[in-house]
Amino acid sequence: MIVGMIFGEVGYSSFNFVVNKNYNLQKGEYVKVNHEVYGWVLAQVTSLRRYNEMYSLSVITGESVPREDASERIIAFAKVIGYLDDRGMLKSPKIPFKPGEKVYKADAELIRRTLKLEKRRGAYLGLLEGHNIPVYLNVNKLVQKHISVLAKTGAGKSYTVGVLVEELLEKKVPVVIIDPHGEYSSLKEPNQNPKELELMGKFKISPKGYENVVEYTPNPGVNPQCDRKLALDITKLSINDFLEMLPGKVSDTQKGILFEALKVVRSYGKFTLKDLIDVIQEHESKGKWNLITNLEMLKDSKIFEGPPVTPADLVKRGQASIINLRGVAPEIQELVVARLSKEIFEDRKLGKIPPLLFLIEEAHNFAPERGFGTKSSSHILRTIASEGRKFGMGLCVVTQRPARIDKSILSQCNTQIILKVTNPNDLRAISQSIEGFTSELEEEIKQLEPGIALIVGDVVEQPIFVNIRVRKSRHGGASVEVVKEPKKKKVEGKSWIWRIFSKI
Ligand SMILES: Nc1ncnc2c1ncn2[C@@H]1O[C@H](COP(=O)(O)OP(=O)(O)O)[C@@H](O)[C@H]1O
Ligand SMILES: [Mg+2]
Repeated sequence: MIVGMIFGEVGYSSFNFVVNKNYNLQKGEYVKVNHEVYGWVLAQVTSLRRYNEMYSLSVITGESVPREDASERIIAFAKVIGYLDDRGMLKSPKIPFKPGEKVYKADAELIRRTLKLEKRRGAYLGLLEGHNIPVYLNVNKLVQKHISVLAKTGAGKSYTVGVLVEELLEKKVPVVIIDPHGEYSSLKEPNQNPKELELMGKFKISPKGYENVVEYTPNPGVNPQCDRKLALDITKLSINDFLEMLPGKVSDTQKGILFEALKVVRSYGKFTLKDLIDVIQEHESKGKWNLITNLEMLKDSKIFEGPPVTPADLVKRGQASIINLRGVAPEIQELVVARLSKEIFEDRKLGKIPPLLFLIEEAHNFAPERGFGTKSSSHILRTIASEGRKFGMGLCVVTQRPARIDKSILSQCNTQIILKVTNPNDLRAISQSIEGFTSELEEEIKQLEPGIALIVGDVVEQPIFVNIRVRKSRHGGASVEVVKEPKKKKVEGKSWIWRIFSKI
């Protein structure tokens, strides 16, 4: 279908065209031009303007008379994406387009081939914005090369991540989800939101609840619906792990006591935190008391109580494991993330568990940028970001504060899924961590509508805007959190920290 004609002075990387009167062209739409040398070249409409000769400056000031048939015209500006050469490589034209050349609506096949979109395979995230073309992303590239999902609160991060998890579940890729707000258990239930059900036809999907979703929590009191209590394995901790974990300062003498006591309890084979404390109690040095207080705090958190959850429990083909941290003190949340990510990474390196995606919501809390505090989980997450892909452990970091997350982690993510961002510091952090990120894209991100994501990185040939599909399962985000999150529990969490620091 012809949508317009190129006019004026024309280059090879962009062109202006007059839009046909009967065609309702939209910003973002893909168009094609048959170039005399290169054949079909794909371009994208990046802006539209209205022009009416009747109201041109010279007519208004009386300096000229308009033609009799003068009327309103739409003028479009299109940026050239390129053409495919004989080997299927995307190339940019070097010879300008001809004025007078016809501009056509790009067909799905050309768009798909030029943008290297998978056909029917991969993770189905939604439709190419402005087109009815499904976007499937290569699952291997997505998972192994790390993903960041960035946007302000309420822009649709968790919703999009929910869509991604649904797709990974269908492809049998194991996912472990660090879920500080308890938003993901709703993956088990089919979507029944009437507005979203109406949209399912457009996306060609139907409601579905996922059975193979197992929910763990360190705090079953606050989250009684969870399938299993999360307990960490104390026997796997090295002396350094203990030192990193203890909330108070530990002197050299105390380190010595701890070292000796660990040797004793290790000789038992299996041991508990209580066994360790009992052995330290026997020690003669006065220094032991501070150590005991520290360990008692850890014991109070009950995080080492019960049968430990192993990487093999969490990482199984076709299973999503949710670590629900709702109502858990921040220090314990960090400890959980640090321990689980470390144990999973170790077992993955040894090939004991299948390749997986380790997904972290509110990731800035677990790996903050320098100057925003240090967390026990930062170090291991940085290691996974730089080495995980070699061993088949993909990371997906989700955050509303790109400026506050560790920059080395952000820049190791090869796929960015970006929804609306307006904070200038966050925009700067995004543009600094992504190669070739243009100021035009920055402008676009500020104006994105909810549910529309910009996808950038290795998984796509060119940055694309995707209308994220509705979820098959229920979204447990935002509204649920506000209604269900009992404020009291949060305070309880805080008071735990307060207890530690007030006692030491
Ligand atoms: N692709 C989408 N389709 C339909 N609704 C969406 C979509 N993305 C987000 N929403 C709506 O926006 C709300 C906020 O999204 P959410 O993902 O919870 O935001 P956040 O970025 O804070 O995680 C959701 O409750 C949902 O109603
Ligand atoms: Mg969210």
